[in-house]
Amino acid sequence: MCSSARDDRLVNESSGTGPDDKRQEETLKKSGKTTDAVRLTAVRKVYGKRDSQVVALDGVTTRFDRGTFTAVMGPSGSGKSTLLQCAAGLDQPTTGSVMLEEHELSEMNETELTELRRDRIGFVFQAFNLLPVLTVRQNVTLPLRLAGNKPARGRVSKILDQVGLGERSHHRPSELSGGQQQRVAIARALISDPAVVFADEPTGALDTRTARDILGLLRHASQAAGQTIVMVTHDPVAASYADRVLFLADGRLAGELDSPTPESVAERMTHLGAFDDDGPLPRLEPTRKGQR
Ligand SMILES: Nc1ncnc2c1ncn2[C@@H]1O[C@H](COP(=O)(O)OP(=O)(O)O)[C@@H](O)[C@H]1O
Ligand SMILES: [Mg+2]
Repeated sequence: MCSSARDDRLVNESSGTGPDDKRQEETLKKSGKTTDAVRLTAVRKVYGKRDSQVVALDGVTTRFDRGTFTAVMGPSGSGKSTLLQCAAGLDQPTTGSVMLEEHELSEMNETELTELRRDRIGFVFQAFNLLPVLTVRQNVTLPLRLAGNKPARGRVSKILDQVGLGERSHHRPSELSGGQQQRVAIARALISDPAVVFADEPTGALDTRTARDILGLLRHASQAAGQTIVMVTHDPVAASYADRVLFLADGRLAGELDSPTPESVAERMTHLGAFDDDGPLPRLEPTRKGQR
């Protein structure tokens, strides 16, 4: 893999916090931009009507900084996918606000949202969702072509090299392994240089070793190329590739962890299980005081 593949957009070369991060923050502030790619404020999502109501998200406030890799974890039904869908403009919160870069999603109409998702957001799912009749290269460039654009010269080859598929650009998905197909999906998500890539269980369909490769690739995209990534997973090892883990329980933030290890994540998850018996909450966010 070529580490300088996307050096035209390197924003986080130094990795970690330091003078460079500060300078970046100041530059962004001066230009009127924020250091967060996505910001959720008091996001609440209620499905259904009256007697069959389900509160999927119950007042979630958080931000995803540019160039960071965040994992979202929590028990099944805790609202992880709903959080991702709301943050990505695929679903609308019942109340609350989602800002993606400078855009307030609730103020956008369906056409504007469609364009925003196409131009500024990348998606990676558990199912790779590739078109079988198209080659690797055609699958990767499809979003751009649908938008009526052509990729900049050399851009597709660069991205394909970055995900380790430089030699396979004319193959079709059926000629690739699962891991390679997910690499195509990642290349497709990265091609538009999105503000954020949302991934819902991206390694869910892969064997352990292949999953590690894919996670390493996502981490590289974040650390070397400054890509903002938000990934839902239920695997503590997968979460340990992220810079930060957000824990959800019953639609609420139930703590977060910086520089996670598989062990520290697994321990938090065990505590979250104790939630069901009204056990003690792990480190609460200040904003959540008194919510439960
Ligand atoms: N379209 C929907 N209609 C009704 N209830 C839903 C819908 N989507 C999700 N839910 C409910 O919202 C809650 C959170 O779901 P989800 O975000 O999918 O959780 P997770 O991804 O953590 O498993 C669950 O109780 C789920 O049943
Ligand atoms: Mg889910």
